[in-house]
Amino acid sequence: ESAPVVTLDGPSGVGKGTTASLLAERLGWHLLDSGALYRVLALASEEADVAVDDEARLEAMAAELDVQFKGREGLQRVILDGRDVSDQIRTEECGGRASRVASLAGARRGLLALQRRFAQAPGLVADGRDMGTTIFPQAPVKIFLTASPAERARRRHKQLKEKGIDANLSELESAIAERDQRDAERNASPLKPADDAVLIDTTEISIGEVFDRVMKLVEERI
Ligand code: C5P
Repeated sequence: ESAPVVTLDGPSGVGKGTTASLLAERLGWHLLDSGALYRVLALASEEADVAVDDEARLEAMAAELDVQFKGREGLQRVILDGRDVSDQIRTEECGGRASRVASLAGARRGLLALQRRFAQAPGLVADGRDMGTTIFPQAPVKIFLTASPAERARRRHKQLKEKGIDANLSELESAIAERDQRDAERNASPLKPADDAVLIDTTEISIGEVFDRVMKLVEERI
């Protein structure tokens, strides 16, 4: 890829999405919310009655997925086959199904080319689980964000509430723990930092501070 890429990986609720969209906006770069692609694949396959373990069909569906991101960074809408599915894909249920779909190597393979096409001038900020390890291994800046499980559940809860989605905090905590475990233990591109990633623990620091640290790395390296 010729355009510079900044990768932001980590489990859910670490502030990846917010940091990534702030960064993309500040730099005037493209943004890839790769989790949204797995969520869209989860939704599309459910609607088409494709089983979560039907690897061959999921790979084919992934490769032909008609997804578009519309609107400004941070307020991006996700469009599947011309239909706005932004709210539908944000439920915890869809997240759970996405993580099951995402555990299949075939599904991941199916989404590979689509993800790499986002790396266009002047640059790309990519957020997900395997941006630095698998999708953009040459990226000059790789960040891996972490935070305590309790803090991550609290943030996710707040986020859902802001979107008008009602969620029970302790149920959310166990759903997140289950999803994280599946993401970290799968064989296909498990959630883990790239060897050359910079680790930032966000438990005790604000998004503003995370943003400043990442911005500093970008200025040093790009
Ligand atoms: O980040 P988000 O919560 O939207 O991701 C939903 C699910 O998609 C994750 O739990 C993970 O299983 C999967 N995912 C992935 N690789 C990525 C991004 C997301 O496996 N790069």
